[in-house]
Amino acid sequence: MHSMGSNARIFFLFYSPKMLFWLFLLLEIIAIAKVHSQPSTQGFISIDCGSSTNYTDATTGIPYVTDDLFTDDGVNFHVAAGYGSSPLGEQMTTLRSFPNAIRSCYALKPVIKSGKYLLRGTFMYGNYDGQNRVNTENPLQFDLYFDANFWQTVYITDPSYTVWYEVLAVATAESVSVCLVNTGTGTPFISMLEFRPLPDVMYPAVNTTQYLITCLRLNIGPSSDSAYVRYPQDPYDRLWKPWTAPDDALTEITTDVSIVSSTDDYFQPPSIVMQSAGILSYNSTVMEFSWYSYYFGLGVRNEYVNFFFSELMPNVTRSFNIYLNDGLWYSNCTPPYLSPYYTHHTGPNAPSEEYNWVFNSSGLSNLPPIINAEEVYTAIQVNPLVTDSDDAYVINAIKELYLVKRSWIGDPCVPQQYPWDGLNCSYGTNPARITSINLSSSALAGSLSTSFAMFAAIKCLDLSYNNLTGPIPDALGALPSLQILQQSYWNNSEFPFSKTKSDVQIDYINDSYLYLIHTTSCYYSVKNYANKKLMLSYGGNPNLCPGGTSCGGETKKKHSGVAIIVIICAASMVLLIVVTFIVWSVIKKRGSSRTTYPEQNVVQPMKENNAQENCLPIENRVFTYKELEIMTNNFRKQLGKGGFGPVFHGNLQNNVQVAVKMLSQSSSQGKKEFHAEVENLTRIHHKNLVPLIGYCMEGDDLALVYEYMPQGTLQDHLTGKIHSDVTDSWAQRLKITIGAAQGLEYLHSACDPPLIHRDVKSSNILLSASLEAKVADFGLSKSFDMDNRTHISNVSAVVGTPGYLDPEYYSSHRLSDKSDVYGFGVIILELVTGQLPVVRSMKDIINLVEWVFQRLAGGDIENIVDRNLRMGYDINSIWKAVDLAMRCTELNHHQRPTMAHVVKELNESLELECAYSKGITARRKQTGTTSGALRVEPPQFIPPVAR
Ligand SMILES: *[C@@H]1O[C@H](CO)[C@@H](O)[C@H](O)[C@H]1NC(C)=O
Ligand SMILES: *[C@@H]1O[C@H](CO)[C@@H](O)[C@H](O)[C@H]1NC(C)=O
Ligand SMILES: *[C@@H]1O[C@H](CO)[C@@H](O)[C@H](O)[C@H]1NC(C)=O
Ligand SMILES: *[C@@H]1O[C@H](CO)[C@@H](O)[C@H](O)[C@H]1NC(C)=O
Ligand SMILES: *[C@@H]1O[C@H](CO)[C@@H](O)[C@H](O)[C@H]1NC(C)=O
Repeated sequence: MHSMGSNARIFFLFYSPKMLFWLFLLLEIIAIAKVHSQPSTQGFISIDCGSSTNYTDATTGIPYVTDDLFTDDGVNFHVAAGYGSSPLGEQMTTLRSFPNAIRSCYALKPVIKSGKYLLRGTFMYGNYDGQNRVNTENPLQFDLYFDANFWQTVYITDPSYTVWYEVLAVATAESVSVCLVNTGTGTPFISMLEFRPLPDVMYPAVNTTQYLITCLRLNIGPSSDSAYVRYPQDPYDRLWKPWTAPDDALTEITTDVSIVSSTDDYFQPPSIVMQSAGILSYNSTVMEFSWYSYYFGLGVRNEYVNFFFSELMPNVTRSFNIYLNDGLWYSNCTPPYLSPYYTHHTGPNAPSEEYNWVFNSSGLSNLPPIINAEEVYTAIQVNPLVTDSDDAYVINAIKELYLVKRSWIGDPCVPQQYPWDGLNCSYGTNPARITSINLSSSALAGSLSTSFAMFAAIKCLDLSYNNLTGPIPDALGALPSLQILQQSYWNNSEFPFSKTKSDVQIDYINDSYLYLIHTTSCYYSVKNYANKKLMLSYGGNPNLCPGGTSCGGETKKKHSGVAIIVIICAASMVLLIVVTFIVWSVIKKRGSSRTTYPEQNVVQPMKENNAQENCLPIENRVFTYKELEIMTNNFRKQLGKGGFGPVFHGNLQNNVQVAVKMLSQSSSQGKKEFHAEVENLTRIHHKNLVPLIGYCMEGDDLALVYEYMPQGTLQDHLTGKIHSDVTDSWAQRLKITIGAAQGLEYLHSACDPPLIHRDVKSSNILLSASLEAKVADFGLSKSFDMDNRTHISNVSAVVGTPGYLDPEYYSSHRLSDKSDVYGFGVIILELVTGQLPVVRSMKDIINLVEWVFQRLAGGDIENIVDRNLRMGYDINSIWKAVDLAMRCTELNHHQRPTMAHVVKELNESLELECAYSKGITARRKQTGTTSGALRVEPPQFIPPVAR
């Protein structure tokens, strides 16, 4: 045993998540006697998540309600058989799980703005999904936020544990949101949510700039198998955990006399908690205990500690000093007889890894110290970032108006990492502003609300694939910064704008480039490229374009109905539309009169007569050769050489940078391919395809003008010619590949008829300034027959690039979309290995697929991984990618996956990688705080010994 004379030392607990569970595990019975006159539950919000009925809890008398009024998302579940008996009772048997969204929220209301409250979330997994998802090796983890603030990482290691977390805060609005965020380590769920108002006087450390997270709240004295104290004994429904030191280190003393705090007391411990206390069982004058802070190292976290005392023995005087980490913390603590007493420090304890407490009898008394109860909180500063209140109000109004079915609850833009689905915000200033809204395919119906015009900072509004009708409100056109509005109309064969001639402003046309396009029956388009602001187009409406070809919206399946996509700048958008319409009528009357506009401003559709093949005309700007000379400064800076010929750098008047791709006379590809590319490019729009700005077709001078991609090609980054995150980071490489794969998937599946790129290679994947992948070079693209996907077109000349060329296509001359998949497989291998598609060694030249295959046969995958990735990667993620690449490069095209499948698997690979890097960060944090796993073991109690 331990040597005589050592101080009584009690390890209360460690604040590790595991330990918290250990504590909760001890809790077996909550049997609180119902008292007759209960304090009011007014202001309580008690939600039994996943429950189908409202009811009053038999033990506490608190009414619980179902959660459907508080959230829009998630699926209700019942815990598996055998998990029904949580000590927290009936509320634990049901839960709501959120498999579909990253961020899912509850809005608790009504609450009193500026009022203090306690909020508790409770979780019991209970194998509700039948997947036995939870164990110590593989804990279920997800994050909790309240309003914009990080609250806690929920951490569950046993399906039967009931885990709860509490926060004390001040409400900033008339509702408080609680959000569950999927961090890639398990589907979030919640069993119960409880909101309890607190009087303003309580917990003075809680204010509008600081909130507290409960670490510990102990009712010392009663043995640990007695009941938790909560409502109604505690009118604020705090959970007081019964606790006594094991091995009889503490002796329980109790009284029947009430020990009631006054209502202006800071902490107001319930009388029943104060009526029991622990004193040292040994005749010692020193009580010691310690705990470790779980939060130490997770940023600066101050700790607040409240000790509660009351003398329960008559006619004695007990007095002691309290020391924290060897410093005097509180002197001459003298608990009054049968009255509450607490230590209160206005300031917090400085962050520390370990807190060692010593209660040492002072000169006034040699009776051993006493303790009745204890609370420990960690303090966190409130996130000051919020969404602009007008923006938040309007987006909520729109949500109500159109009954938007998304988890749009809580602050729209914050937490910054998890804004509402479909929103982008700018965070340069506080409050944050909403800058883009994507409400595509959201089943919006009715007329377009003027509310959309109230987002003062909005740049992009996508309303495509909805059932909106009627005119676009003028106010939207007046927005200063709106650049893109995508709107679709359902089954609306009329031109959606009804404006009269008096609205026309010819001035605008004079100082801008206005392009007007029409075909006989199906298409209108207006563009203003001078300041890249205005583009209006609509297409894909079968009523308007009989038998026409079309592409759906990005990554979306073609709609059975009508999709009119309008891309418009804000400034005088409506006016320009009107201009278009009116001018169009004039032209119709006058035949092909162009006299009112400069010649280059009017573009005739390319194959006007062939409506079948070319329902959608070229909508892009036409440049003269002279203009090309000016924009490229006489073809001064060559960027590279493409399939057609040289590519030059250029600048438009508005300082937009462009890449001008010339079709050289000697090029093997002629005008036919040029037309093909122009046609393809004008009818497809996707964020992962390089946007075409215009073209030149003057005699033999053919050129395409693209948006310039400042970050070069993917190959440049892999070879280190351009150094970026892509060079060193596997996750970044995966993100690029996923983008490129989405671009190709779009060509294969969203376009009708589908397109085959035919020259998929890493130098055809360009990177935008923000390192977003854009597939380039459609000159070789080939439409193929969608109705018979497996049927393979016959193509006379095999085209492509060595190393990427599909061997099956090469030998059979038969082309399918799977040839692109082959090329893409090679790109994935380049990303893993950092090798070129054709590997030159001392002895021979082999293709990368073969090179990888040979090395993998040796069994060691690390062997092939690019050394630039030595900063770390998840080996499983790499394996998954290589496995995918090997399937993409199967000789038989039937065995290759589709691009849609490739996108899916790459995303899974990225998930693995992200989980891995997250793990690394967590491990780093952990090793930074404590000296190893011992700290999360159950505490060891050393019996106190008299000294
Ligand atoms: C539960 O109570 C709430 C509010 O009192 C009510 O709106 C809801 O419909 C009730 N749910 C059930 C299932 O009765
Ligand atoms: C909130 O409390 C903290 C700690 O007591 C204090 O530093 C801060 O100034 C308080 N904030 C307000 C708004 O009172
Ligand atoms: C405890 O110790 C004090 C002095 O240290 C002594 O007077 C007293 O009798 C002791 N009590 C018991 C129960 O041993
Ligand atoms: C405590 O002291 C008071 C007077 O000082 C006396 O009346 C009372 O009986 C004492 N109580 C006990 C339990 O000794
Ligand atoms: C769109 O609105 C029209 C007219 O209100 C209605 O007939 C049609 O069913 C709606 N379509 C969808 C998909 O909601």
